[in-house]
Amino acid sequence: MRTHLQTNLEQYGTQAQAYLDSPVHAQGPDLAKAQALVAQSVAAGGQALDVGCGAGHLSFALAPHVARIVALDPSGPMLDTVRQAATAKGFHHIETAQSTAENLPFADASFDLVCSRYSAHHWTRLAAALKAMRRVLKPGGHLLLIDVQGEEDALVDSHLQAIELLRDRSHVRNRAVSQWHALLADAGFADAAHESWPVRIDFSSWVTRMRTPSTRVAMIREVQIEAPKEVQEALAIETDGSFTFTTGLFWAQAGV
Ligand SMILES: C[S@@+](CC[C@H](N)C(=O)[O-])C[C@H]1O[C@@H](n2cnc3c(N)ncnc32)[C@H](O)[C@@H]1O
Repeated sequence: MRTHLQTNLEQYGTQAQAYLDSPVHAQGPDLAKAQALVAQSVAAGGQALDVGCGAGHLSFALAPHVARIVALDPSGPMLDTVRQAATAKGFHHIETAQSTAENLPFADASFDLVCSRYSAHHWTRLAAALKAMRRVLKPGGHLLLIDVQGEEDALVDSHLQAIELLRDRSHVRNRAVSQWHALLADAGFADAAHESWPVRIDFSSWVTRMRTPSTRVAMIREVQIEAPKEVQEALAIETDGSFTFTTGLFWAQAGV
C-alpha cells in the first residue's frame, strides 16, 4: 500500500518533461496576470517561494520581477527539470528545494511573495499548508494562488472530481471559490482578490500527459457520456472528451 505522497512521486517522477512542454502549464492568462500583480506590488529585491513548482512555469514567469525565487516540489525529477530549464533561460537566481507545502523548510517571515500554481489540489492538508505559507511570508508580503477551481454546484463538482481522480491518482480535490475564501481567511488572508478564466482541456493530451491507463480513460469517457445535461453544459464536454474547467487566481496580503 502506498501513501498519497508516494503516489504523487510515481505520477510526476517520470512526467517532468511532459509538464515542461505542456501548453496548459506553459501558457495562460493567469501567468500574465500573475506577472502584472507581482511587477506592481513586489519590490525588485523581493524574495519569492513557488510551492509545488512542477516544471517551473510560474517561477519562470515571475523570475524577471524578483531578486531570488525558491522553486519547491517533492519530486526530484521535476526539480532537475527546473534547474536545467532555468539555466537554459539564464535565470541564475532560481534555486530549488525538495519538500512539500505542508512542511516548508524555511524560517518565519523569509519571503516577500509566496506563490503556487496548479498544485494545491494535490495537497492532503491544505489548511495546514496555507498556514505554513502565511508563516514564511514577511508582514505585508503577498500570496498568489492559482489552481483549477471546484464547482459550487454539487452535481457538477462530483463529476469534475470524479474525472480528475480517474485521470490522476494523486488528485485530492479542486476547491470551489467559497471554500478558497474560507480557507484563506482561516490562514490569515482575509479579503483575497479573485479572478478566473475558462481553460479548454484537450482530452487526448490531458490523459497522455498523466499516462492514464486505457481502462481508466474508458471510465472517464463513460462518466462524461452518461453525465446529465447540466453537467455536460457546465463543463462544456465535447464529443472527444475535451472539456473546459475554470482556473482561479487568488491574491492576498499578509497583515503587517
Ligand atoms: C501540475 S504540477 C505544477 C505546475 C507548475 N506549478 C506550473 O506552474 O506549471 C503539480 C506539482 O505539485 C507537486 N505536489 C504534489 N503534492 C505536493 C505537496 N504536498 N506539496 C508541494 N507540491 C506538491 C507535484 O509534485 C507536481 O510537481
